[in-house]
Amino acid sequence: MVEIQEVLKEAEQVGVLSGAGLSAESGIPTFRGKDGLWNRFNPTELATFEAFQEDPKLVWKWYIWRMHLIANSKPNPAHYAITEMEKLFPRFLHITQNVDGLHREAGGKKFVELHGHIFDGKCRFCGKHYTAEEFSELFPIASKTFLKSITEETLKGEVFRKIDEGELPFCRNCGEIVGPGVVWFGESLPEEAIEKAFNFAEGCDVLLVVGTSGVVQPAASIPLIAKRKNAVLVEINPQETPLSPYCDFVFRESASSALPKLIGLLKR
Ligand code: OAD
Repeated sequence: MVEIQEVLKEAEQVGVLSGAGLSAESGIPTFRGKDGLWNRFNPTELATFEAFQEDPKLVWKWYIWRMHLIANSKPNPAHYAITEMEKLFPRFLHITQNVDGLHREAGGKKFVELHGHIFDGKCRFCGKHYTAEEFSELFPIASKTFLKSITEETLKGEVFRKIDEGELPFCRNCGEIVGPGVVWFGESLPEEAIEKAFNFAEGCDVLLVVGTSGVVQPAASIPLIAKRKNAVLVEINPQETPLSPYCDFVFRESASSALPKLIGLLKR
């Protein structure tokens, strides 16, 4: 780690590209790998607009189950280490694919969420976006405060029953059913977020690639854009990924072990 400490001490523009592995130690399952969500569930039945049109109740039950899990999770030392990094570099950006918002809860301010935020709402029919606050008024059973207060038993009993009976969020604008504020397969990423991420990657001195399998585009191309502009790439991931061969430093460790260590070295 000593060498990377030297590189980071010289760096002015530093970015982090994160994925589900960042929140794994907060108890939120990743998507791929042995215990990954996509091994247990079929993404085309749950994370596409077609699936939502076909069976909005099923899709909402799955999202509310995940929202309940997230509402009852806490940021881990890796999230806090990223918040610390914001203060250490003149120019910093955390580019995340995570929709859980745990980086916000850890006090992070300089982030872009490429795949949206699970507690927001998005009407695919008219395009209206609801902030988490607005959405919790429209659909109280999906609010973070409510989900924090109930057990999994209540969730799968009472809450799922309400959904089955037709309690769904109807758009204030067009009256159609609003979906969660995340990016589904086949949908475009929020334009502003992806533009900011790409521009930042182009000017990066160092980019840390943390807890992502590096297989979902366009996020997976961000490290390559940075590399093309001579950025130093650092991977933090217990497993090898398609991005590993491009990385200058590789730490086969969990994010919550490697990132606080790195911060410790930088503060010395
Ligand atoms: P994946 O589930 O594809 O990959 C998670 C990565 O985290 C794997 O490479 C693991 O080895 C690594 N990992 C696991 N535990 C870790 C830990 N404690 N510390 C560090 N790394 C760890 O998740 P993403 O790359 O985020 O998209 O997946 C990208 C997108 O695919 C997601 O945003 C989601 C999914 O479909 C949408 O929902 C649009």
